[in-house]
Amino acid sequence: MRHLVSLKEQSPDDLRHILDLASKIKTFHRRNSFLSQRTLIMLFQKNSTRTRLSFEAAMTELGGHAIFLDARTTQLGLADFQDEIRAIMRMGDILMFRALHASDVEVASSMNVVPVIDACSEKYHPCQALGDIFTMAEKAGSLDKIGKVVWLGIENNVSNTLMLACAKLGIEFWVVAPERDPASLDEELIKQTEATRYVHRTLDLKQALDNAGFIHTDTWMNMEFFENGKVKSNYEDEYRRRLNVFNPYQINIELLTRYSPNAKIMHCMPCHVGYEITRETINHPNSIIFDQAENRKHIQKAILSWLLTI
Ligand code: CP
Repeated sequence: MRHLVSLKEQSPDDLRHILDLASKIKTFHRRNSFLSQRTLIMLFQKNSTRTRLSFEAAMTELGGHAIFLDARTTQLGLADFQDEIRAIMRMGDILMFRALHASDVEVASSMNVVPVIDACSEKYHPCQALGDIFTMAEKAGSLDKIGKVVWLGIENNVSNTLMLACAKLGIEFWVVAPERDPASLDEELIKQTEATRYVHRTLDLKQALDNAGFIHTDTWMNMEFFENGKVKSNYEDEYRRRLNVFNPYQINIELLTRYSPNAKIMHCMPCHVGYEITRETINHPNSIIFDQAENRKHIQKAILSWLLTI
């Protein structure tokens, strides 16, 4: 049985197949009945805008049905996780799980009841990575023309899976990150990427951004630092520390003009305006952030089809 958990388990041909399928579905089969009578269970232990909408719309447009399950309104809080998840998976054809812990996604997939998707845990975000590569290939003209991809800011779950996907597909990937989110560390994944010649690490912006085709970022401020638009007093020191550490890697007009005026700007969203990215760069002609968001829906269709029908 196929699962989409970390991308470690997918071959380069699997990734190419999903990307090719997304392109065909977006071009020729936006609305179809590929997933007629199929049920997707979407279990969320954390909030979401894009992941929920893209999966739900994908199921509707391909003739299936998606059930939204907010973990906070289920019995998951009071019962044994393994019993509950086993019962949940009996109700549908596929499980999409936004989990607090990647290990719980692995427990669910190891039961092999239905295909399981990690829909953003603390370590992985495979659907985001595939959607981002789909978007870059679309903008570049093909997968082979993507060129140099740069990740700026903090290393985390999103950069992990994007880096791994790029390494598997032979795409040059530069990480410019002074720190990593400690919860996202996966030594095995790093080893897989470092076994290729495609991943590079530096804090030298000029070296990384020279001739970059695409620049990505993600949030480096935690939302629990804030209340009513202000920094909570107990987080003030960490807030100031992070500003100091990460601000040199903010995507802003000055950085673009100086190092990479032609690069396309990407962000997995939600954007934290004024921190990792400025308003001017979100709205810049080089920004492809909203195409990137829409492509989540097209890639979800391909992922669902690949997991369920092929
Ligand atoms: N990028 C992403 O996964 O967005 P959501 O958290 O809104 O789903």
